[in-house]
Amino acid sequence: MAYFSTTTLRDDYHNAIVDWQQRHFRELDLLTKNWGNAFPGQTQFQLCAKIGAQKSEVVEHGRFKGEKKFERASELRGNMFYQARGIIKAQCSTEFGSIQQHRMTLDSAISDESKYAVLRIMAEELRHAYQMFWILDSDASWKREGHTDVAKETMDELLAMETGQHVLDAFNIDFVTFLDNIVFAAVIDLVGKYQLDMQRVFSYAPVARSMGPMYSEEGFHIGSGKRILREISVSAARGAGDVSLGDVQRCLNQWVPRGLEMFGNEMGGFVNVELGFKDRTNGQAQQEYFEEVSHIVDDINASILRDRVPTLEKADAIDAARAIVAEGETRHGVKRSELLYLPARSFFRMRGPETIVFRTNDVHGQPLGAGGANLAWPEYETYLATVLPTHFLKSREYAKYRDRALLYNGGAIGSGGW
Ligand SMILES: [Fe+2]
Ligand SMILES: [Fe+2]
Repeated sequence: MAYFSTTTLRDDYHNAIVDWQQRHFRELDLLTKNWGNAFPGQTQFQLCAKIGAQKSEVVEHGRFKGEKKFERASELRGNMFYQARGIIKAQCSTEFGSIQQHRMTLDSAISDESKYAVLRIMAEELRHAYQMFWILDSDASWKREGHTDVAKETMDELLAMETGQHVLDAFNIDFVTFLDNIVFAAVIDLVGKYQLDMQRVFSYAPVARSMGPMYSEEGFHIGSGKRILREISVSAARGAGDVSLGDVQRCLNQWVPRGLEMFGNEMGGFVNVELGFKDRTNGQAQQEYFEEVSHIVDDINASILRDRVPTLEKADAIDAARAIVAEGETRHGVKRSELLYLPARSFFRMRGPETIVFRTNDVHGQPLGAGGANLAWPEYETYLATVLPTHFLKSREYAKYRDRALLYNGGAIGSGGW
């Protein structure tokens, strides 16, 4: 029994999404044709909106706690209207953006199985974009007397976005290798899971009803990402395949900081709780996320150890891996350099508290300059080249980071200071 009902958009926007798919995700046909082989016994993908049940009919957090949830956008008071629009727009931008990114390296998939996993992720992200359109399209009150048609404006803007123009930084980074697809599914989709979970309480009911079905689909994305990343890492640790463990580490160093920033400044998020949009602040959710990513790393390291020492129990392997990584001890013949580590929260940050943005910290969070000061730019860039993927240092998004870092620190390249 499905725990949701399904519906479609009005023709205009349904066709606009199909059009978008024809331009950005033609490979959907391949998935549809081979679905039965790739995912036997599972319900075929369908482009539709899914309307799930709500946990509660009344607002659960903040100022309106206990009041009936808002059914119409026109009931949203004060800045709630635009704040809700901003969240829906950002969410939808991540869905479209990730499809555009996955497509860049889809052809370099390491196996058919991993290719179909990514195709399914892309298809479900398309459905998630469709779901956000449904929220805007099914409530006529997004068009307000005397205002522009906010729904139409938002949907048109979203349909036109290309990589580099999306709302969140993580969705503007070009994928270069298939490792990007997999690390992204493991650590960036994981942020999506937190956002969807937090927004189950959303005080504007159409958003709340959308979250359950999206959340359960997200499980496949993260599960596939984690599983394939573990397989790639174990085979890299054996020296097999085209990818080294160092490549995996650099890829994590590139993506985890952007994942952390998707929560918004970790000192903020109180307004969303106050308006009943989310049940946790940015910092609370980010902390839980960071712990979950650390478990992903533990799990991979344990698998690498157990591949060497098959008699090792998983819990013992996790303990041993943590000691190797944290203390630099060699255990079971495995050295620190043969395992992965989690980059520190304060590494390579562009957004967040002043104490960490644009600081020249190393991957473990230690300031590289004397006395905790920032390093001169060229020196820091030399350091970054040792811990980030080489191709990323030539990317548009890296150039953005460098320009903003220099501006923020008020220095010039080669000045010795910033
Ligand atoms: Fe999604
Ligand atoms: Fe996803």
